Amino acid sequence: MNRIEAQSISGQRDNAIIGGSSLVEPDVIVGFRYHPDCGPAVIGAHAMLRKGTIIYADERVGDYFQTGHYAVIRAFVRAGDYCTLLNHSCLEGIVRLGTGVRIMTNTYIPSRTWIGDHVFIGPGVTFLNDRAPGRVEPMPTPCGATIEDDVMIGGGATILPGITIGARSFIAAGAVVVRDVPPDSMVKGVPGKIGPLAPELRRPCSRQLSIQPLDIWHPNGCNPGASIWPKYWPQQWED
Ligand SMILES: CC(C)(COP(=O)(O)OP(=O)(O)OC[C@H]1O[C@@H](n2cnc3c(N)ncnc32)[C@H](O)[C@@H]1OP(=O)(O)O)[C@@H](O)C(=O)NCCC(=O)NCCS
Repeated sequence: MNRIEAQSISGQRDNAIIGGSSLVEPDVIVGFRYHPDCGPAVIGAHAMLRKGTIIYADERVGDYFQTGHYAVIRAFVRAGDYCTLLNHSCLEGIVRLGTGVRIMTNTYIPSRTWIGDHVFIGPGVTFLNDRAPGRVEPMPTPCGATIEDDVMIGGGATILPGITIGARSFIAAGAVVVRDVPPDSMVKGVPGKIGPLAPELRRPCSRQLSIQPLDIWHPNGCNPGASIWPKYWPQQWED
């Protein structure tokens, strides 16, 4: 691993170790010193850290880590290889991500949340870790959710504190998950109703999707080009 070039990041440049072949845009902070005794942020090779990203000290993140703009990762996050955290999403510290975890935009993951391997988390998902903040004394230790391998969580879902979602389960968009979910279940609605998974969805998440080395906006990725305009749009553009 190479120590990051001073001019590649703003501030805290003495407290980050970033693996080779990584790209770090301007206005990225890696290794943010939240405490005088904190250790470095260690990021694997082939990272892509986009403008506005803030990564605290005391991190261990694997290879091919990608952030969108203004992603925030607070201290004591452990993440495997091929993880993605998109724009404005936040890992509140003391969070575990397995391999190939893909987290879309505007998602909130509080501390003490465990995420398994190849989990997909749609946009605007909210995880919670405190059942009744400020209303219980003494204050209980926050307890986040446990999400087992190959779970898919749809956009806008809410996962209550301490919930376990079993492997390969599918959480529909907008569901509020209020109780533990057995493996291979579908959860829909508010409060989330647990049922069996449709046969066509009863499978692990695709490894081709969860282990993507680059996304389409990566400078070394495939340029989407003019073919991106959906055929069903009323207007197409030539340039
Ligand atoms: C849950 C989902 C997979 C559809 O599942 P499905 O069982 O194939 O659902 P269908 O479209 O056949 O609809 C079956 C019923 O579920 C309802 N339903 C579908 N999606 C629902 C949802 N998110 N919440 C509540 N009910 C839903 C339908 O209205 C329908 O109800 P009805 O039987 O009373 O008419 C899909 O709607 C969904 O939420 N996908 C997640 C998409 C997403 O968040 N992607 C993130 C990346 S962009």
